[in-house]
Amino acid sequence: MNILAIETSCDETSAAVVKDGKEVLSGIVASQVEFHKKYGGIVPEVASRKHIEVINPIIREALASAGTELKDIDAVAVTYGPGLVGSLMVGICAAKAIAYALDIPLIGVNHLEGHIYANFIPQSPNHPIPQFPFVCLIVSGGHTLLVLAKDHGKFQVLGRTRDDAAGEAFDKVARFLKLGYPGGPIIDRLAKEGDPNAIRFTRPMLGTGYDFSFSGIKTAVVNYVNKMTGDRKPATEDLVASFQQAIADVLVEKTIRAAKEFNCKTVALAGGVSANSRLRKQLKEECFANHLTTQIPPLEYCTDNAAMIGCAAYHHFRQERISDLALQAVASLRLV
Ligand code: KG4
Ligand code: ZN
Repeated sequence: MNILAIETSCDETSAAVVKDGKEVLSGIVASQVEFHKKYGGIVPEVASRKHIEVINPIIREALASAGTELKDIDAVAVTYGPGLVGSLMVGICAAKAIAYALDIPLIGVNHLEGHIYANFIPQSPNHPIPQFPFVCLIVSGGHTLLVLAKDHGKFQVLGRTRDDAAGEAFDKVARFLKLGYPGGPIIDRLAKEGDPNAIRFTRPMLGTGYDFSFSGIKTAVVNYVNKMTGDRKPATEDLVASFQQAIADVLVEKTIRAAKEFNCKTVALAGGVSANSRLRKQLKEECFANHLTTQIPPLEYCTDNAAMIGCAAYHHFRQERISDLALQAVASLRLV
C-alpha cells in the first residue's frame, strides 16, 4: 500500500511516499529556515505563504523520486494539528484535493503521533521497531511530552511541559545570546567545545512527577549572564554546555523513571530536540545502565518530515481510522 504523506504544520514543507508503513520510497523536505532567520523566529504569515509557493512542486518531486505517479497512490495522509493554523491548512487543502480527485482515502494524522512513528521507520532491514508498551519522550520546538505508548493508536500522556517546550528554551537562550536561529543545533555545536559542569543551572522538577518546566532554566541563564560582567563573563561554550546539560538531565531522569514505573523495556525519542547529541548520548547511556532498549530515529526523521506521517497513517488505515473531506486544521490538537 502506497501512502502519499504531506506535512506542513510549521515551517517545513514536506511530502513523502511510504510503502506499507515502513518503506520510505521518497521523502522531500523544503525548509523555510532561511526566510525566518532574519526575524529570529517563525513568522506564521510568512510560513503559510511559503507553503503555498512550494507545496505542489514538493508533492510532484516526492512522487517522481519514488518512481510513482498519482495512479500508484492508495491513500493520502496529512498532518491536521497541532501547529500553525495557516500552515496546516495548506497541506490539508492539497491532501483533500488529491483524495477527492483520485477517490482514495484521506487520513488525518496528529503531528505528535507522527513524531512517535518516526521510530517505526526501520533504519536498516534488520533494525528492530519498538515493542509495546514503550515510553516515548517527544521533544520539539512546540512540545515536550512524556508518553506511554500502549499499542498502535493507544497513548497515555504521563507528563508535559508547564511552560516552554525544550526546543523553545534552546531557541530563546540562543536568541538572548545572539547566536542565531534555530538555536538548538547552534547550541549543540558550541556546547561540544564547552564544560557542561562549568555552571550549575537549576533543574526544575527533577525527581518529582512527569511534568516539565524549562522557562526557569532559561531565566537562570539570562540572570547569570546579566550578573557576570568583565573578566567574570563566562565563555559562551561553557554557558551553553551547562544549559544543555541541565535540560538533558531533567529529560533523561524523568524518561528513565517513567520506563521503570510503567514496566517498559524500551525508551523511544522523538521530535526536533532528539537531534541533540548530548541528549542522545546521555539517554543511551542511562538506558544501557538500566537494561532498557533505546530507539532513536535517524536525524532526518527527528525534525519535521512527511515520512513519519505516512508511517503513522498506515496504522490508522489498518485500524480503519479514516478521515472525511470535512477534515479541518486544529491548531492546539492534543495527542489524547
Ligand atoms: O520537531 P521540530 O522540527 O519542529 C516542531 O515540531 O517544533 O523541532 C524543532 C526544534 C527547534 O526548537 C530546534 O531548535 C530544535 O528542534 N532542535 C534542536 C537540535 N536540532 C533541532 N535542539 C537541540 N539540539 C539540536 N541538535
Ligand atoms: Zn515537530
